[in-house]
Amino acid sequence: MKEPNKQSAPRYRAVITGYGSFMPAKILTNDQLANMVETSDEWITARTGIKERRITTDKETTALLATEAARRALEETDCKPEQLDVIIVATITPEMVFPSTASFVQSALNARNAAVFDLAAACSGFIYGVSIVQQFIESGRYQNAIVIGAETLTKITNYQDRTSCILFGDGAGAVVLQAAGDGRKGVLYSTIAADGEQWKALNCQAYGSRHPSHKELDDPNKIFMEIHGRIVYQQAVRRIVESVTDCLEHCHLAVDDVTMVISHQMNQRIIESAAKRLNLPPEKVYINIDKYGNTSAASVPIAFDECVREGKIKRGDIVIFVAFGAGLTWGANVIEF
Ligand SMILES: CC(C)(COP(=O)(O)OP(=O)(O)OC[C@H]1O[C@@H](n2cnc3c(N)ncnc32)[C@H](O)[C@@H]1OP(=O)(O)O)[C@@H](O)C(=O)NCCC(=O)NCCS
Repeated sequence: MKEPNKQSAPRYRAVITGYGSFMPAKILTNDQLANMVETSDEWITARTGIKERRITTDKETTALLATEAARRALEETDCKPEQLDVIIVATITPEMVFPSTASFVQSALNARNAAVFDLAAACSGFIYGVSIVQQFIESGRYQNAIVIGAETLTKITNYQDRTSCILFGDGAGAVVLQAAGDGRKGVLYSTIAADGEQWKALNCQAYGSRHPSHKELDDPNKIFMEIHGRIVYQQAVRRIVESVTDCLEHCHLAVDDVTMVISHQMNQRIIESAAKRLNLPPEKVYINIDKYGNTSAASVPIAFDECVREGKIKRGDIVIFVAFGAGLTWGANVIEF
């Protein structure tokens, strides 16, 4: 493997030093869903790979999940909360319209020196967040950062729409990224992109400026997510393949050099179809959608945390994070862990 195409290697590299996740305890199985809408465990398993998902109670909010994932990630490091320079929470189900979910995380962690903001790039939010922190650290501006993907999607899921309610679950994952100038490489490359013309493919319209809360909604279903599954399916496969190919080419990597590709978990068939086009063998593609469904921005850091704890990824391994989601947005990060 050669060094990525760069004018000159940055002095500081953004290295993942901590990882953690937090899942709500309550489980919603396919059989339970089949009692709520016209569907079956067989259909959901065959079309998506999902068997069950975690759902939050009324008391479990996005900031609570995010904070617990962040605590677990920080425990893996020597970074104290007050040493954090920036906290980014990638989410489309924030604690409230404002302030940011990241503000609540900062307060709960007592990370009083951190700048905080939320990042709304839907399922690609975590990838966007890692890309931003890479720039902050490589520029020398910040030394210690945390990127959290946290979602409570079941709170905006329409449990009367069988085409969407089978897909989504709740959870949070986080990574701590720290500046290293000691030869460790960390984030090697990031690519992020979007196509705003296709915003309708995935959306939730209520209570923004277009449909403010003081005006009655013309369609009550606007408080829920709306998805156009077939459009998303085709685009997702295409953009995942493009993003991973870009990573491999830019970093002069062959598939054999990569230990694991951690894709956003949106549908097992989408992930497997993209993997086939990329000639990725199944053991290099991590899948946990069976347990958690689609947790949007949280899915990649949750899967990464599980992968590391299961010993499937070790220090020095090359890992690719890749995601696709509403916006439409997509992107990938190459990590030397
Ligand atoms: C939603 C998704 C699982 C549907 O799978 P699919 O194989 O594309 O299925 P289709 O939409 O073609 O529907 C096939 C049939 O199953 C039916 N169906 C849809 N949902 C069903 C359900 N939960 N149970 C049983 N039947 C269902 C449809 O009504 C359709 O019936 P018809 O042929 O009589 O019209 C799939 O398109 C997908 O995963 N898309 C992307 C998901 C997404 O948007 N994720 C969020 C962003 S990352």
